[in-house]
Order: sequence, then structure tokens, then C-alpha cells
Amino acid sequence: MIRVKFLPSDRTVAVPAGNTILQAAIEAGVPIEGVCGGNGLCGKCKVRLQMDNTKAEKGRLTPAERKFLAEDDIEAGWVLACQHPLFEDAVVFLRDLKDVHERKIGTADSEKVGLHESSIKKLHVVLKKPSLEDQCADWERLIDALPVGNIAFSRLAASSLPQTLRNGKFNVTAVLDDARLLAVEPGDTTARAFGLAIDIGTTTLAVYLIDLNQGIVLASGAATNPQNVFGADVISRIAYASSPDALRELQKIVVGGINGIIESLTEKTHINISEIYQVVVVGNTTMGHLFLGIDPSFLARAPFIPVFNKAVEVNAGELGLAALETSSVTLLPNVAGYVGSDTVGVMLAVGADRLEGVHLIVDIGTNGEIILVGKGRILTCSTAAGPAFEGAKIRHGMRAAEGAIERVSISSDVEAMTIGSGKPAGICGSGLVDALSEMVRTGIVEGSGRLLDRPERLASLPPALRQRLRTAGGQAEFVLVRGQDSADRSDIVITQKDIREVQLAKGAIMAGIRVLMREMKVGTEEIEQVLLAGAFGNYIGRASSLGIGLLPFVPIEKIKAIGNAAGKGAQMALLSAEERQRAFVLAQRTRHMELSTDKRFQEAFISSLAFDCNSQGKANL
Ligand code: FES
Repeated sequence: MIRVKFLPSDRTVAVPAGNTILQAAIEAGVPIEGVCGGNGLCGKCKVRLQMDNTKAEKGRLTPAERKFLAEDDIEAGWVLACQHPLFEDAVVFLRDLKDVHERKIGTADSEKVGLHESSIKKLHVVLKKPSLEDQCADWERLIDALPVGNIAFSRLAASSLPQTLRNGKFNVTAVLDDARLLAVEPGDTTARAFGLAIDIGTTTLAVYLIDLNQGIVLASGAATNPQNVFGADVISRIAYASSPDALRELQKIVVGGINGIIESLTEKTHINISEIYQVVVVGNTTMGHLFLGIDPSFLARAPFIPVFNKAVEVNAGELGLAALETSSVTLLPNVAGYVGSDTVGVMLAVGADRLEGVHLIVDIGTNGEIILVGKGRILTCSTAAGPAFEGAKIRHGMRAAEGAIERVSISSDVEAMTIGSGKPAGICGSGLVDALSEMVRTGIVEGSGRLLDRPERLASLPPALRQRLRTAGGQAEFVLVRGQDSADRSDIVITQKDIREVQLAKGAIMAGIRVLMREMKVGTEEIEQVLLAGAFGNYIGRASSLGIGLLPFVPIEKIKAIGNAAGKGAQMALLSAEERQRAFVLAQRTRHMELSTDKRFQEAFISSLAFDCNSQGKANL
């Protein structure tokens, strides 16, 4: 066995010699970026190995590593985690994704949710001590003293009751979820009651620790969904989960990732895990199935049938979730196979059932979910936007971590700004949208998406820009950052293929929007607001999103970012039984449009691929 230490998380694990870094990372519960399921095809699982024996490590480089890593990278110790075997103790450095995670959370700690009607009630009672004259059983003694009827017997709550009553000298607090007794605690603990709102994203997990008495977010945290190593999108996760063992592994791994965040939040706030009495979870339909360990296979093939759509309630203990064993974990309802409880959370957060006028809400994550509210209807659809905006499938794409180019402006030359202002290491979604919008505006990319190659047009470009256009490996590309200015000294480029990936993603989103608008019979001018949910929506340049035709061409002031609305919806459902009920009604009221069989979608998709689709007057299709 060898010992592998991962930094900056500072986790160490012992694994058999010959295991890959990825296998060690899975064992350690450390998430590694990667979108090809560990098959050496994407080059995204780059990690830096502290090389004590550089010659030996270099000798172990696989053809895939040689393909994806520049000579400078190799010298600096970069390897591909899914490819590189370890034969002696090692230290592995992972890119710090603090920025990605902070962007996902989008809520300041101590933020008031504005609701505190939790179904959790803590009742302090001082019981008469038993005696030979009063031999009433412990359970009955407690239940009879509580002002709540019909409390059913709970084996788990009763199991520790005798000790708790006596430790507390019969001065105890009963924790109830409506008429369900969750726990009994010694003394008066009524001031302390906590819950969790959890958003399980395909790429990122977000957890909010909430004070149920005060209705405030005490602390929040996020982490990469550790299932990420099994593929970037839901389809690869479903494919991986095809055997019972793999399904169990995915369930365990996501709960492990969530528990890691919970433990750090409770440590920071000095809260005991057994003081967490209620949990509300949102996520896309596939993530919901995998969280519960339920086979999602039939979501991947037509007619895309989930195992459940209605809200589901289980105990934390059943799932292995870090909370009081008896606490309820409620997964909000899904709308359909590809419109999950996270979308219901968004609808709850924006009050979709109370909005007047026409409102478009777009949540761009690994998938793109679209909600159109108006004329007394709520329509929704999901587009296979793909994870292009998360940096996957983009040659130098990366998540929004330090060193990612997030803003680009082009005049006589290119100006690229990075997160953290350091040297650029790659480009994240908002940088990509900015870059393409600028490249379209300046004519480097034609409206069709083709990189400029016609000599007569090239001549009109400023010389510095002209020199950035080149052909490499038979493919046209634009050098955004030259090697001398980048973090790892190699050029950062946007290739023709990258541009096509963005066209497919933005074309799918725009086409989905158009189908919903057509179904509701509304024009662009009738849209009162475009609300962008999710981390990407918070950071994307509004003008750039219009510039590439990702959104209908509305006046820019109508576009608003609303942060992690799915997480906000989960918080609201946690803090109010009424909001929870409203979520159920919203899910039922919402009409889901299945795009895969909708002819209008195919037509709209084709006409939405061009970057200048809005200027072609097709927005109202
Ligand atoms: Fe390692 Fe894709 S190359 S996960």
C-alpha cells in the first residue's frame, strides 16, 4: 500500500501501489475534474504531482498524457489523474476551486430567508420522576406531557429515551416534526434548531445550514459533485449507474460529498450534526434518483420516464446523510425526466405563480432549463445545452477558478481579464461568451460561426488580431492569449470546434425559448423580464449573451441575474410547510414541453445556431 496526500484539501489515503491518482482520489473522497469518465479522452483531469523522482514519473506517462500535456506542463509535474499510476507515496496538488464554489452558493451567510414557519417544534417539558407509586413507562410519561396528539411510537427516538430522561433529570426537550417525535434532548434546548437546504447540481453541490428558529442562513458551502469523475453530464452518469454496484457507488459518493460540506459547516458554527432536524433537497431528476440510489436508466431513453416525480420523503439515516438519523429529508417534486426539483425550486424562489405579465427564466448549468410564465400559464422545457459553458469540451475551457479568463474585450488587440487577476490558465463560461460576442462584433467570427479566413475580409482586421488567427492541426483557431502571457506558458486558443460547441449549446437554449414563446403565443417585446438563475447567469455579461444570440433580443435592463434560485427555493421549502405545499402545486401546474419530438424545436434550433440569429428577425418564430 502507498499513501497519497491531496492538497489543498489535506486528505490522505492509503491505496494499493499501481492505482491511478483518480482511483486514490475517489477513495479519499476528493473530487477531480474530468468529463470523459476517466478514459483519457478529455485532458481535463490535470493535477500536479510533487515529483521526487521525475525521471521515473516521466517514464510512466501514457500516450494520452503526452497528447494533452505540453512539455512545460510535464516538467512542472502535471499529469492526468485518470491515467497516471502511483507506485510510491505521493503528494498531489489540485486546482483550488474556491471561486467556482463561492459563485455557486450566491448567498451571504447570515442572510435572512424571510420565513420561519418550520414544521420543527421543540417543546421543553419537566416531567414528574417515576416512583413506586407512579410506574408510568418512559414513552407514555413523555407523550402524555406533550401538547400534541397522535404521536406515533418511534423505535429510534425511544431507544435512547431512558438514558436521556435520567441524564436530564426528567427536564428534557422533545423535538417534533409535526406529530413525529424525532428526538429527546436533556435540558432546555429550544433555542437551537437547525436544518439544511441542499442543491445537488450535476457539477457542483451547494449546502445551506439554516437556523430554523430565526430563518437565517448561518453558513453555506459548495464543492464539486464527486460524481463528476464518472462524466460531466447526466447521460454519462446514467450510463455508469447501469449495475447495482455502480448505482450504490454513485449514491455513496454524492452523499459523501454532501457530508463533507455539512461537516465543515457544522464545525465552523459549533453545531452538532444531531441538531439538524430537517433537510430539503433539490436537483435535476437524475441527480435526485442517484441521491436516493434509485435506478435512473429509463431517463436516458425515450419516452424518458423517471421512477418518481412527486415529492419524496425519507429519513436521513437511510441515506447516510450527516443529520439527526430520524430527521426527514424531502426531495421537492420534479416536473418531468429532464425538469427536476431544482427548477421547481427556481419557480418557488421567483414566485412563478404570482408573477404578472410575461417572464422568462433561464437556468444555465450543465443542462439549460427554461421557464416561461405568462397568460396564466407556466411552461417549461430542458435543453441538452451540454456542459460547454462549464468549460467541458472546450479546448482550453476550465471552470470559474483562479486564472480563468472571465472577461474579454477586443479593439485593436485582445484584452483578457482573469479571476484573481493572475496569469490566464484557461477560459471559463462567462469569458467564452464574452470572447465570442467580441469576436462576432469585430468580424473575427462570421455570423455563421466560421472563423474568418477570407483574405479580403482578413485585410480589414487590425494587424494584431490578424496575427492571432491561424490553422493548427488542420483546424482554424484564434489565439486569445499568447504563451508568453499565460500561466503554463502555452497559447490559450479558441478553436473552430470550440465555437461549434458554443453554437450547439446556445442554439439549443435559444430554440427552447422560442418553442415556449411560440406555444404561449408571445413576442419578444412582451417579455417583461429575463431572469438568469445559477452561477453562470450571475457572471455572464448581459450584452455578450445578447451578442451571441443566447437570449431573445430584449432591452438589456430587462435582464437580471438572480443567483442560485434553486437553492433559495430549497431554503424557502425548508422554512415553511406552506411553501413546501406551494412547490407541489407549482410542479403540478407546470406544463412540460418535450423538445426531442417537437418539430418546432428542430426548426428553431437550426435558425438559432447563427450568432446573429436575433438580427435576422427570427426571435419570434
Ligand atoms: Fe482524465 Fe478525461 S482525461 S477524466
